[in-house]
Amino acid sequence: MKKIFIRANLLFFLLIFVGTLPAAAVTDVCIDCHGGLAGQLGEIPTAEWQTSIHARHRISCHHCHGGDPTDYVKAMTAERGFVGVPEHSEVPAFCGQCHVGVEEDYWESLHGQVIDFGGPNCVTCHESHAVQVATIDLINEISCSRCHSYEKPALIKEEISATEAMLSRLEASIASLYRVGIDTGHLEDELFATRNSFRRLFHSVDIDKIRAETAGFDADLEQTKATIDELENTLGKRKIAGGALVLLLLLGGCIALLIRRTYEGHE
Ligand code: HEC
Ligand code: HEC
Ligand code: HEC
Ligand code: HEC
Ligand code: HEC
Repeated sequence: MKKIFIRANLLFFLLIFVGTLPAAAVTDVCIDCHGGLAGQLGEIPTAEWQTSIHARHRISCHHCHGGDPTDYVKAMTAERGFVGVPEHSEVPAFCGQCHVGVEEDYWESLHGQVIDFGGPNCVTCHESHAVQVATIDLINEISCSRCHSYEKPALIKEEISATEAMLSRLEASIASLYRVGIDTGHLEDELFATRNSFRRLFHSVDIDKIRAETAGFDADLEQTKATIDELENTLGKRKIAGGALVLLLLLGGCIALLIRRTYEGHE
């Protein structure tokens, strides 16, 4: 009795201790201070960032701008790695700290080569704070014809659309396999890798290169699809076997009932 009481007490203090931990860890002085500043300097980037894929993955102000998110006074000093706001031509390296492959393909592209002469950088297409999941819909007449005709962008979109559709279908299949309790970790990794390298290809904006390389990606996706089909087949067979068992049990139940009835009738 006494022992249980002590255990309960320990648990109580442990809970309080753990309860205070996350509160201390999430304090981010950048968001705290900027969230209260007006306009373009504070409210706007903070609110936009909150809707972004980066916020969902805990990529915060200091991951891009540098600085120290734990110190109100020294947050924005060079000493703590603060780099401020990048120039137009510095943005690719700024984002490329993490998106290494995309940055590579970007610099090789005509867009990268003309960055100082009207070429778009990463935020021209993705924005800086409201960055969302990237899809083929980013290629559209309104966005791309800000600077040139939509003719070539339309060709590129057509070229990658079949592969994109296949990617989405496989993502959906994997998600439904996961929901019925299949371990899809390996499949997810495989698809994530293919998707990453396929989507960096767009950044070359080189229709010939895209044409030449798309076939290779389609072959990789066919392989993933074969594994998924196989899993779905075994799952289908299991379902049929399960269904047959239920039917058999039901039939057995009916026969037992009938036999009992006949007995009772005889009495
Ligand atoms: C105590 C308030 C406060 C904190 C904490 C703070 N900032 Fe600032 N920040 C400001 C103010 C005020 C300005 C505008 C004046 C200036 O540039 O010093 C500013 C400017 C900026 C700018 C624009 C600079 C430019 O050159 O235009 C960026 C980017 C920025 N902050 C990011 C951060 C990041 C990242 C952190 C956390 C590591 C942070 N801030 C922490 C108040 C703060
Ligand atoms: C994914 C990287 C990234 C993150 C995360 C990020 N920023 Fe920025 N920020 C940029 C880029 C790039 C620019 C330059 C804007 C441009 O070129 O359009 C910028 C510009 C700014 C500016 C200058 C004013 C402006 O809008 O041009 C401020 C202030 C700022 N950011 C504050 C913040 C704060 C506060 C946070 C966190 C809530 C944050 N940023 C998170 C990339 C980022
Ligand atoms: C500190 C690392 C880091 C920096 C710097 C960074 N990102 Fe990200 N970004 C991530 C992570 C993590 C994700 C979420 C995982 C993923 O999808 O790759 C992500 C996701 C994205 C996505 C969505 C990818 C998808 O799955 O559809 C885009 C687009 C993107 N970032 C663009 C940018 C741009 C533009 C910049 C510069 C303004 C930038 N990122 C700077 C880490 C970073
Ligand atoms: C900020 C301006 C700007 C935006 C926005 C822009 N581009 Fe470009 N793009 C250029 C410039 C500059 C060139 C090189 C000169 C030219 O061809 O007009 C170029 C060239 C191209 C080329 C030709 C490459 C070649 O080998 O001939 C393609 C394809 C292209 N862009 C695709 C796109 C797509 C797709 C989008 C929209 C997602 C887009 N661009 C948005 C500025 C832009
Ligand atoms: C001309 C417009 C344009 C520019 C410039 C651009 N992107 Fe993209 N980005 C796109 C489009 C369109 C997609 C989706 C391509 C697809 O669906 O195949 C994309 C996809 C992505 C993805 C998703 C990759 C994945 O694994 O799903 C990331 C991350 C990304 N871009 C980051 C960047 C970074 C970093 C830069 C600068 C170095 C940049 N982008 C420059 C239009 C652009």
